[in-house]
Amino acid sequence: MVKILPISASAIAAAAAALRRGDLVAFPTETVYGLGADATNDRAVARIFEAKGRPSFNPLIVHFPDRAAAARSVTFNDTARLLADRFWPGPLTLVLPRAADCRLSLLVSAGLDTAAARVPAHEDARRLLNAAGVPVAAPSANRSGRLSPTTARHVADDLGDRVAVILDGGPCRIGLESTVIDLAGARPAILRQGGLTQEMLESALGGPLAVAGTEETAPRSPGMLASHYAPSRPVRPDAVKSRPGEAMLGFGPGYAGAEGNLSETGDLVEAAANLFACLHALDRPEYAGIAVAPIPEEGLGRAINDRLRRAAAGR
Ligand code: TXA
Ligand code: MG
Repeated sequence: MVKILPISASAIAAAAAALRRGDLVAFPTETVYGLGADATNDRAVARIFEAKGRPSFNPLIVHFPDRAAAARSVTFNDTARLLADRFWPGPLTLVLPRAADCRLSLLVSAGLDTAAARVPAHEDARRLLNAAGVPVAAPSANRSGRLSPTTARHVADDLGDRVAVILDGGPCRIGLESTVIDLAGARPAILRQGGLTQEMLESALGGPLAVAGTEETAPRSPGMLASHYAPSRPVRPDAVKSRPGEAMLGFGPGYAGAEGNLSETGDLVEAAANLFACLHALDRPEYAGIAVAPIPEEGLGRAINDRLRRAAAGR
């Protein structure tokens, strides 16, 4: 049986030992729960793909306790240094060239000469990363195509015995994956909208950013695949009211009687934190589908709408 361990010094030590042995450990971050493995161990990384049932061409995010540790695996340029100074630890993932003496498994890069690095803003996650002493590859701790988990219970329900240990740190503060920015190409490009807003990145960099997938560019980030993040029920975004049989997921005031509300006050930060938990809660056979109220396309609303469009696509 999977062990669900509330955070404590001994739980972190046990989880770190499991990682060093090559086992899978689910752990909380400020964004979503991650399904972690020693990123320098090919077999451990392969187990992530097996547990998720994920196509193996998807590269994975590698987690580090601090920037100095990340700099041993990827090569920073000026833009990367600026963004790391400003936003790490935090919900931002930097895609950078692999360092010359990089010890990361080639599997985490899925054959690319780049790797995605992130330092999470979750104290217990960083304690785990420090205790493990190895970089930790961790996609969201859900099976491929399912909703991302924001509680330990979500992870246990979806992955159960496929993971050795689940560290329970309570619900995730942000509730949406990190923003992924590619800094290895000719100019920076957002590969995935997430917990750090495009507006904040643009103000730090002093100009507009390219966003992959909105131009005619092929998706460079498999996280951009259309039917990612799908609950089993059909999702209908931008719905002013529900149709017969549908559950209504409101946003803001004026949704009295709805089955759920992302934020009664219309707060995008609260809505992001609640998004996956609300979709999990309404993904039940008694509903024909989930109608979701319109969300403004600004700030974290961009990432929320992106996840909702993917949940609605390709089914
Ligand atoms: O919030 C998060 O980022 C969570 C938590 C656990 O940290 N992790 C997460 O990891 O969402 P994952 O592996 O599910 O998402 C990886 C994203 C995908 O969109 C993937 O394509 C992109 O990052 N990615 C990873 N490595 C890349 C690379 N070398 N080049 C381009 N995109 C890459
Ligand atoms: Mg995921």
